[in-house]
Amino acid sequence: MTADLLGLFPPGSTVDPDGELVVGGCRLADLAAQWGTPLYVIDEGAVRAQVRRFRRAIEAWWGNARMVFASKAFPCTAMYRLMAEEGIGVDVAGAGELAMALAGGADPARIVLHGNAKTDAELRMAVDAGVGLIVIDNTDDIDRLEDMAGSEQPVLIRVIPGVRPDTYEAVATGQLGSKFGLPLPAARAAIARLRRSGRLRLDGVHMHIGSQILSAEPYARAIDAIAGLGEFAIYNLGGGLGVRYTYRDDPPTPEDWVEALATAARGRFPDGAEIIIEPGRALVAPFGVTVYRVVSVKGDDPRFVAVDGGMADNMEVALYGQRFEATVTGRVGGGGAVELVGRHCESGDRLISGAVLRDPRPGDLVAVAVTGAYCFTMANNYNGAVRPPVVFCHDGQARLVVRRETLGDLMSRDMPPA
Ligand code: LLP
Repeated sequence: MTADLLGLFPPGSTVDPDGELVVGGCRLADLAAQWGTPLYVIDEGAVRAQVRRFRRAIEAWWGNARMVFASKAFPCTAMYRLMAEEGIGVDVAGAGELAMALAGGADPARIVLHGNAKTDAELRMAVDAGVGLIVIDNTDDIDRLEDMAGSEQPVLIRVIPGVRPDTYEAVATGQLGSKFGLPLPAARAAIARLRRSGRLRLDGVHMHIGSQILSAEPYARAIDAIAGLGEFAIYNLGGGLGVRYTYRDDPPTPEDWVEALATAARGRFPDGAEIIIEPGRALVAPFGVTVYRVVSVKGDDPRFVAVDGGMADNMEVALYGQRFEATVTGRVGGGGAVELVGRHCESGDRLISGAVLRDPRPGDLVAVAVTGAYCFTMANNYNGAVRPPVVFCHDGQARLVVRRETLGDLMSRDMPPA
């Protein structure tokens, strides 16, 4: 039971002799004592190991291949720096992520810019920064980029392959009707136009069929669809590989996923073409933990365990109904089902319905597993919540990489009375 639960925490997570949960060699109780709660903890070594694992897999299965981190999954300068140190590029979804990526030391030539509504200012910033690939989403992108690109700006074109993966409605993007990219007939016309362009160099096509996808099968169908568009130097197959949030989830391993992609591409893409993959969630989600303090416990049926965070630091539940698992950090595993709820003024602020916790009491720390993707990203100030800090830990060493927001920060943009 405890082993099952630990299996959802970063690899190497253990329980100290006194019963305290240890992640990245650090006791969560010590981290909470030093930096307070709620607290995002990232096992930095595990993220690095995962990046290397994906790289090895893609390089083994497709000679000319590279990986970029879909940085929307965890955009802070420390994470951009980590990815740069690991030698991989990043995908950015606009000026904010581009600025953070550059500040974190990302090589502009290895940055891929996405967006279905890139503003003139963002396109200009990307061209000026020397962003390696700009992904054309629509013909307006072509009009505007042709006006601004100085010499040959390499671009990809985002295509809707017409494949609906089995995932949450809000994060499925491969199907007709998606707001991202162009359906195949419109993509064909845009490709013909780009091939005549003097300013834009069409290097290839891009697809991204969705997120938290727990099967490789839809990728094969999507690859088949985009292969019919002609021969290109680059095929960017996007990200979307899902992770194991709960005991039931059984996603393909990075190796299996990459093998499925490469097998589908073999014979369909030209020999020597480059494949790019851009995972986000799968590089970070399993290696992050959120630590909360229990504030109140009330009732028997249901038993509400209320913590000092919630939908301001984890939107996954409210937005998608994502299921998580958790433990009291000082009594790991076992116990009975409770309603683990947040502190925000909304009934939907229920972190885990039926969370299995052992004798949770006010003052206890609770760790929610697999919060390393999109939780930090979509944190907000609902009810005046200050956004939590981020601590990276590795081999028993912890360092603060993002500080906690302050009450002063909350008012820092407000203008004084006239
Ligand atoms: N490439 C593109 C163009 C994307 O739009 C995305 C994610 C990725 C790659 C990476 O996908 P991943 O490997 O992380 O699944 N807010 C949602 C997730 C939205 C994902 C959006 N695009 C959430 O909180 O779960």
